Amino acid sequence: MNNKYYITTPIYYPSGKLHIGHVYTTVAADAVARFRRIMGDEVFFLTGTDEHGQKIQRKAQEAGKGPKEYVDEIVEGIVDLWDVLNISYDKFIRTTDNYHVSAVQNIVQQLYDNEDIYKSEYEGWYCTPCETFWTKTQLGEKSVCPDCNRPVEKAKEESYFFKMSKYQDRLVEYIENNPDFIQPTSRRNEMLAFIKAGLEDLCISRTTFDWGIKVPFDEKHVVYVWLDALSNYITALGYPEKTGLYEKFWPANVHLVGKDIVRFHTVIWPTILMALDLPLPKQVFAHGWLLLDGGKMSKSRGNVVDPVILAKKYGVDAVRYFVLREIPFGQDGNFSNELMINRINFDLANDLGNLVSRTVAMVEKYFAGAVSGGQQEEEVDKDLKALAVETNEISSDEINKLMLSNALADIWKFISRTNKYIDETAPWVLAKDEGKKERLAQVLYNLCESIRLIAAYIQPFMPETASKIHQQIGTENTDRTWKEGGKFTVKKGEALFPRIDLKKELDELESITL
Ligand code: MSP
Repeated sequence: MNNKYYITTPIYYPSGKLHIGHVYTTVAADAVARFRRIMGDEVFFLTGTDEHGQKIQRKAQEAGKGPKEYVDEIVEGIVDLWDVLNISYDKFIRTTDNYHVSAVQNIVQQLYDNEDIYKSEYEGWYCTPCETFWTKTQLGEKSVCPDCNRPVEKAKEESYFFKMSKYQDRLVEYIENNPDFIQPTSRRNEMLAFIKAGLEDLCISRTTFDWGIKVPFDEKHVVYVWLDALSNYITALGYPEKTGLYEKFWPANVHLVGKDIVRFHTVIWPTILMALDLPLPKQVFAHGWLLLDGGKMSKSRGNVVDPVILAKKYGVDAVRYFVLREIPFGQDGNFSNELMINRINFDLANDLGNLVSRTVAMVEKYFAGAVSGGQQEEEVDKDLKALAVETNEISSDEINKLMLSNALADIWKFISRTNKYIDETAPWVLAKDEGKKERLAQVLYNLCESIRLIAAYIQPFMPETASKIHQQIGTENTDRTWKEGGKFTVKKGEALFPRIDLKKELDELESITL
């Protein structure tokens, strides 16, 4: 059956270069999108940039540029970064795109016409880096943002408000009746407690700056940047126009978001959709963060965290593998150059790279590069094949549940099992015995077939590596079931992941200044 699958990343603020932590959401969404396509789904994968608001306006001013000129340059860098990282998005939305601007105006007008918006005065605090309003009660004794700990600013201005409080009971009921709507469960419980503590109406317009979408019925006001940004998930599909995409793909299967922005996606977004009388997304999935020495990631802390530099040095797939492997399901992970180099050396160069190069070398040495199956099976082969089949089932299930790190860990268990099979069968011993020729061929066939499956399993995560492996074992067959009696014609290629001298590399990285 041809299922529709709509997956989104958050749209990124073009307020500086993205770091290795930022790329996690998009690389994760890409792996899932690729997996779904392989499984035959019709996928729509959306990403983009969130370009309005006070934060961007200020950054542009600091840079001595107009806001549009400022964002244009950075957005170009983001598009290039996704190209470098092989992100297979179907659409890139910019909130400065005309169709988005008029769609947001349409949304705000609908809310106004339905009397879900009223004019009043906002008096409270605002965190510009997070673009978030805070009340005195939420701040408590402190005058810093409860999310990011940076100072908040007092704001007092005429504003339009969205009657969010009106939807509180409906939202609680929805979350309680739909256990999968917010995942993982820990985030769901957190959000339920937050909503049950009471929702206030939401300030949805600002007048003290002008870099935003104008409120259609009162042009002194610009639309609050989160309302503008969240709407992208439907405006990208053409909403409110009926272009076919909206009808086909909404509601989204999953909005993949970092844990810092779950509240916006599970409180503001669903209540806006309720007010518009539109269906809610099926799931908002919150992933953990990649931390630098246990803290927030930032360039000023000295380490090289630029994904472009890392991809150039170690290969795109090493970066993709690292972030996806290092953030465990629902938790935070750690980044350091040492951790990354160790993963490359142990998981990629040793476990995977050596498996491929040893196998190809043996097929060349013992059978002049071509080997066929359907020969002499032995007991030890059964265990390998059973794990090959099981790995497909387990890792597919894990990807469907967005447990990507677990999926990779399980694929790597199969890689280790395949390496162990080489030790168990000792092909170099079989090669010494003319009478064991058929058995040797079968062993090498089993190794090639395991490698073929490994390439298929890692393909959504590491597409380049999968095709390099295909070239070396002479097949493009990505079918995920074990084949008996096939044939492989191998060809030695370059090492998939050359080993890195840790000490030398760390010194070199230290010396890079950005
Ligand atoms: N513009 C908003 C999203 C609007 S969506 C309607 C935004 N942008 S962001 O550029 O600040 O962040 C984009 C994504 O990167 C978020 O999902 C955020 O959680 C993620 N990450 C930022 N730093 C991160 C790490 N260090 N680790 C993992 N993800 C991180 O928020």
